[in-house]
Amino acid sequence: MRKKIAAANWKMFKTNSEAQAYFNDWAAIAGGAVCESAAAHAADDSSGPDVVFFPSAVLLKTVSECIQSKKIKAHFGAQNIHFEKEGAFTGETSLITIQELGANYALIGHSERRTLFNESDSFLAKKVKSTIDRGLTAMLCVGETLKERQGQQTFSVLKKQLTEGLVEVIELLRASNEFVSSSGESKSKLIIAYEPVWAIGTGQVATPEQAEDAHFYIRSELTQIVSEKFAAQVSILYGGSVKPDNAQSLAAQPNIDGFLVGGASLKPKDFFQIVQAL
Ligand code: PGA
Repeated sequence: MRKKIAAANWKMFKTNSEAQAYFNDWAAIAGGAVCESAAAHAADDSSGPDVVFFPSAVLLKTVSECIQSKKIKAHFGAQNIHFEKEGAFTGETSLITIQELGANYALIGHSERRTLFNESDSFLAKKVKSTIDRGLTAMLCVGETLKERQGQQTFSVLKKQLTEGLVEVIELLRASNEFVSSSGESKSKLIIAYEPVWAIGTGQVATPEQAEDAHFYIRSELTQIVSEKFAAQVSILYGGSVKPDNAQSLAAQPNIDGFLVGGASLKPKDFFQIVQAL
């Protein structure tokens, strides 16, 4: 069974005090989603979708403390990490630092990182590998620009981003028993987020059919690149102008396993409604 996941990409929004206020509201709104006990808070709690917050690096400690102190049923991770354990990389964030704070996800290859910070597929492949090697879950973002879609290149772009972005972990992923529990439940350390660039922050969401076509393609491609078993259980999230009013029709598609949400995740009420659509 594939895990449903709702992920919030806060980008470079919110201060520490705003993050605290957010989780006060979230705890009140989410009500039943707040954990009763530390045991229920464990990562393998499989009831309902997993909720993951990606705040900016400077908010990670606050987010970690809020989640723990309010017993909020959610995970968190960094929007970007460096693949080296440590070193002279001014301005970068290491996996060991975020892991110490309790983070267990890293967002890799968001289109803003690819375009604004020139991150290439081979550079991202190193991040995917070190994230998985460290025992965290890598959420690899892929997606075509409007020009590429109009030029009928959507599938070739996705193929390149997947093939090159996963090149360093393919053998590991092929040993897919490591990624599936004995009950068949997904324990994947890799999640794919399909985010058509033309839909990010534009209000122009992909239609459920457009999104499903891309997700179906990604799953088929993962069958080729990795294995059928892996492709069947990996969660593929849709991102790009997901809002409370379009989440349900997208979530109804067979190959859409969750969402990566930017703008609408900044408001607890809106994001919670999106979580509930899954
Ligand atoms: P959006 O952003 O929901 O604001 O379109 C999505 C993303 O960039 O991950």
